[in-house]
Order: sequence, then structure tokens, then C-alpha cells
Amino acid sequence: MKKKFLFVCLVAAVSVAGFSQKVPTYLDDSKPIEQRVAAALAAMTLEEKVALCHAQSKFSSKGVPRLGIPELWMSDGPHGVRAELLYDEWSQANWNNDSCTAFPALTCLAASFNPDLAHLYGTAIGEEARYRNKSVLLGPGVNMYRTPLNGRNFEYMGEDPFLASRIAVPYIKGVQSIGVAACVKHFALNNQENWRMNVDVNLSDRALREIYLPAFKAAITEGKAWSLMGAYNKFRGQHCCHNDLLLNQILKKEWKFDGVVISDWGGTHNTQEAALNGLDLEMGTNTNGMTASIANSYNSYYLANPFLQELRSGKMDVSIVNDKASRILRLIFRTIMDRKRPFGSLATPEHAAVARKIAQEGIVLLKNDQQTLPISPSVKSIAVIGENATRSMTVGGGSSELKVKYEVSPLEGIKSRFGKTATIDYSLGYGSGKYQYDKVAPSPYDALKLRTEAVAKAAKAELVVFVGGLNKNSEQDCEGRDRVSYGLPFEQDLLLTEILKVNPHVVLVLISGNAVEMPWIKEVPAIVQAWYGGTESGNAIADILSGDINPSGKLPFTFPVKLEDNSAAAFGEIAYPGDAKTHKQEYKDDILIGYRWHDTKAIKPLFAFGHGLSYSSFQLSGFATSKPSYQAGDSIVVSVQVKNTGKYDGAQVVQVYASQTKSSVMRPKKELKAFQKVFLKPNEAKKVTIKIRTKDLAFFSESAKDWKLESGEFVLHIGTSSDNIVKSIPININ
Ligand code: BGC
Repeated sequence: MKKKFLFVCLVAAVSVAGFSQKVPTYLDDSKPIEQRVAAALAAMTLEEKVALCHAQSKFSSKGVPRLGIPELWMSDGPHGVRAELLYDEWSQANWNNDSCTAFPALTCLAASFNPDLAHLYGTAIGEEARYRNKSVLLGPGVNMYRTPLNGRNFEYMGEDPFLASRIAVPYIKGVQSIGVAACVKHFALNNQENWRMNVDVNLSDRALREIYLPAFKAAITEGKAWSLMGAYNKFRGQHCCHNDLLLNQILKKEWKFDGVVISDWGGTHNTQEAALNGLDLEMGTNTNGMTASIANSYNSYYLANPFLQELRSGKMDVSIVNDKASRILRLIFRTIMDRKRPFGSLATPEHAAVARKIAQEGIVLLKNDQQTLPISPSVKSIAVIGENATRSMTVGGGSSELKVKYEVSPLEGIKSRFGKTATIDYSLGYGSGKYQYDKVAPSPYDALKLRTEAVAKAAKAELVVFVGGLNKNSEQDCEGRDRVSYGLPFEQDLLLTEILKVNPHVVLVLISGNAVEMPWIKEVPAIVQAWYGGTESGNAIADILSGDINPSGKLPFTFPVKLEDNSAAAFGEIAYPGDAKTHKQEYKDDILIGYRWHDTKAIKPLFAFGHGLSYSSFQLSGFATSKPSYQAGDSIVVSVQVKNTGKYDGAQVVQVYASQTKSSVMRPKKELKAFQKVFLKPNEAKKVTIKIRTKDLAFFSESAKDWKLESGEFVLHIGTSSDNIVKSIPININ
């Protein structure tokens, strides 16, 4: 017995030694990734390859257990790492180790006009994802802001493709520097929530190329994103998660994307198209289409058994699954199998500091008459009014909701900053219902009683800080449905008007990811757009209100005076939300969205794209371009001197827009081509030089189906917002 045992041990030792001498190529990280991918693929069965191409749980997909290749775990995105959910259900798993940092919403990041902050954001959220063992972070979102009614605008980066590109690229690089894949979403044209599963968008190639694709293109070709999520909606009759033009022709052929196309959860609709039109990994399919599933239905996914049958029968060539499996293996090698990737960290003071800094720099001072802000230290009583002063904004909103370690509310922030020098009296003022996904919960409050109480408190205070706006409820800033009106909800207009009658000293802090109508605008002396600020929201708001931090954010989208002034609203139902019967939609506003529309059609906005005030003042002078005329391929260098002429440390964003004087096609009045944020002490001046590539002045020609740069005069408009151009300089392109 003893002898036999020794013999077995010997055999085992020899075989273990033999094994360790011959590490298979796919496990050998001294080998290039492509070689490892090929080696892994060669070692896999057909069944194992297909198993890579679909979910195995709500947020994971299989690895290759036999070969030691690990599973892929994914998480929303894009503002923090979402709580753990149950394996096969949508409810939270109630772990006690998954509370995260909430970073400000992407609209706020975009409003910072600061790509360096986008890199910090990406790195910090990447570290949190890494700590939580996620290989894919489902974000950032770079769909364009086309209508202020879109329920998901808060997850995107505004209405300008150039701005969104400059912010998305460093975010992605930051995330991926930690060995976590960014997943850019939702490709493409997911610009509204109404009928999002089947609205069928049609638009010109020019609008597609000039407005809706550039941020995705930058994310792939410059940011080198390792994964991308298809959108729910259709584009020209085909669902975006298996859209030949978008995925095969543009993304994979033209932009040479070598990563993984992941479906949006429930965005896959048939095996043929999914297999052939560019989808690689199918997630979230439900057996009833969208909302419910029989337990563990993963083998009936379109890219599971039905796909396997097509391959086994020879109806589909094995090269199709080989391509998908290779992409998924490449993603696994880039992330969870990268032994050298850094470790992460979760909900650290450093991440909170990053969140606070981004919130501070993203907050936009919209209006500040009579130097209402910063709040004078002599103010002895402040009435804080409004539900948003205390309501959590990390709960709700849909898939981007977060379970946070903490969230400083505006009221807490205001109390801790001003509580020593002033009495702070809080009143709810108005109230909405509890958050419910896809349902509008009724308010449990007596609106009149709340209003009367608030107005009485306002009358007694020296200053009123009204904290209102939207929230993360359904039909507000929330996934699944669009807003139903442009005005403020829950009778806030009425409340505000009544407050103004008893006390004109009102500072309005708007918490939202969208523009809102402001019928009382003339009466309110100071307005601050504070977005969804995450974990440090309340502190960042207090930093701005007190003047501890000088505001420097700029609007990443236009605030129209009224909804009808918005481009998507100007062409009737067919343009937004689409035909009620067929769900077909035509983007008749074409390339003229946002400020392009307002400028070109001379429709004065309430607040213009790029607008944002400071407590300091700045002077721009010494404008010059490197030459008066350029050849195609050149770079244009614009230089300008910026001086802080006020009393506070502060920052100004120099914005350069371009227009073409005479063109063979309609061109917008002007388009953003470059920007630079400059930080200056009082009296300090800096010379800023900004580069613009001549090719960025081209338009997409419908007839040539290519970019075209015409000779002739162009004008560069330099200013501090789209409606404050200080200098226009003509140049020539030969
Ligand atoms: C959303 C995606 C999200 C996914 C997973 C979908 O409903 O559209 O943005 O990443 O769910 O939660």
C-alpha cells in the first residue's frame, strides 16, 4: 500500500514538473497577445468558442474553464461601479463590500472643458472597477444631446462632437491604464429613450458623419477603446446591435476596431444578423424580449445554441465564430489575464477628492446679477428650500444608479460651510415620489402645505438658496423614458414665483442633466447649474457658493428659451419622437443640432453652448494665427493672450470656432474646433497657443461620400462662449 502511494506521488510529481516546463503559449505572457489569442483559439472546441459569445449571468460571460481562461465580469458605468446584482436576477445582491465613489455625471465632466480631469476620472473609476474585479466598465456614453427631453442626456457629454471627443478619449485611456476595458456606448444614434428598443432612425450620411459618429470614432481610433456597446434602436431598418453598416463597414473595416462589440442588454433580436453583422458578445437577452426571463436561459440566446447549430450544420462558416472568439480572447488577455495590470482601490479619500474637483470644475455659473454670489460672509440667515437639497441623486436613473459609500447632499454641504456664520433653515418646498424604474411614483406630499411652509421661511431669511431641478425618477433624468415637458416638474415654477414675491434674494441651484425652461429668469438674480455631482456633490456646491472655488464650468449644451426653439422639436413628430405608428424617425434637423441650429437660424438661446461665468473677469487680446493662408494637411496655430483682470484666482476657457465663408454646401454658422482651459491668478496673463488641423475644417460630402475640404476663405472665431466671440480672423485654405 505504502509503495503504491509513493509510486502515485512520483508519477504526479513528474507530470506536474512536465507540465510546468511546457506552459501553453496562451498562458505565456512573454508572448505577444496575438500569438496567445491564436494559440488559445487553436486549443478550443467549437462549443467553447460559442460559449464565449453570450452571457452566462446578468453581468458576466464564460471563459474557457478547461484551459484556465477566466470569465469576463462587467459592470455599469459610467459614473461609478454599480452594486453587485444577483447572478440571474436584476435585484441587488446585498453584498457589504461594494459601496463605491460616485463621480459626477458625464455632463458635468464635459462642462469642465478639461481633458486632464477626464483622465483623472477614468483612472479613478478604473481603479474602483479593478478592485471590484471587473474587466469591463460599461461607459463612457457619447451619444449626442439632440433634445432636452432625452432621459439619458446626463450620462452623455453634450451636443458637440468635438467636445465629446476630447473628453471621451482621456476618460477611456484612464480606465484602460488600470487594465480595465472601457465600453463606449451606445453605438449609435441612441439619442432618446422613448421607444428606444425599436425607434428606427434615418438621417443623412453627412449628419451621421459630422455629428453623431465623431466621438465614437475618436474613442476607437484615438482612445483605443477595447470594447463598444451597440445601441437598442434601429438605424435604417436594422437594429444597431447587429447593423452591418455601423458595425462591419464603419467600426470594424474603416476604423479598424479590434475589440469586442457587446450588445446592449436585450438589444439582440436574431441569430443571422447577430452572427453576420458584427456583434461579438450577446448580453441581457430576455425570453420575453426585454423585461423577463425564464431562469438561466443563457443557452437559448441568439448567439448560443441557435448559433452553434448554424455552425455545426455548416450553414455558417467557422471563421465567423473564430473572429468573435478571437476578439473576446484579446479582451480577456488585455484585462483579467494581464498579470502586470495594477491593483485597484475602492472608495478612497483620493477618489473622493477627484470627484470633488471634477464637480467643482464642472459646475456652471449661469447668471450672477448684483454680485449675489459668492455669498457674503456677512449673511446671517439662509433659507435652503427644495427637495433636491436632500434627495439622493445616486439612487435612480436606471443602469447608472450607484450604491455609494456616502453622498454629501447640498444641504449638508451648505450647513458645513455656512453653518458657523449663519442660521440655516431648511424646508422641502415641493416633493416628488420615491424612485421606481419605468414608473412614475406619485408624490406622497400635500403640495400646498409644503409651499406655504417654504414661502414663510423664505420671507424671514436674508438669502434663499433654492435647490431644485430634475431628479432620477422615471420621466425625469432617467433611462427608459423621456421627459414629458421642458418645464420644471412638481410645481417648482409656482413655488419659485411665490418665494420671489416675498424675497428677491434668491440663488437657484439647479440639479439636472438637462436644460429646463425658466419663465422666472428675469427675477432670479443668481443661477448655478450643478448637475449630478456624485459623492461630493454638496461640498462642491458649497465651494462654489462660498467662492472658495471660482466657477469655471461651461455649458456643454444649449438651453433653449422654449422647447419649440430646439432643433429636434422644430420639424414635428417625425423628427422627434418619431412616427407613433411605425416608430420611424427622420433627423430633419440634419447637422444643425444645438448651437449649430440656434446660431444658423438666429434663434437666441436662454443660455448658449460654452457659456459659463466666473467671479473674476478675463481679457482676451493679442490674437494671431501662424499664417494667413494654409495648404491642406497643415496645422493652423492660433494664439491669444488671456489675462485675469479680476480679484479671484480663476480659469477661463478659450474657445475657437470656425466657419466657411462660401461653400458649395450649407455649413453651420460656426463649429467648435479647439478649446483650452487656462488657470490664472489675479493680474496674471498667459499666452495660449491652440492647434487646429486643416482637415478638421472639412465637411462630409453626400455626393462623394467622403470628407471634402474646399479652397477659399474660412474664419476662426475666438471667444469665451458660442455667443461671446471676441475676435474673428479670416484665413485662406489653398
Ligand atoms: C443600458 C446600458 C447598460 C445595460 C446594463 C441597459 O439597459 O442601456 O447602458 O450598460 O443596461 O445595465
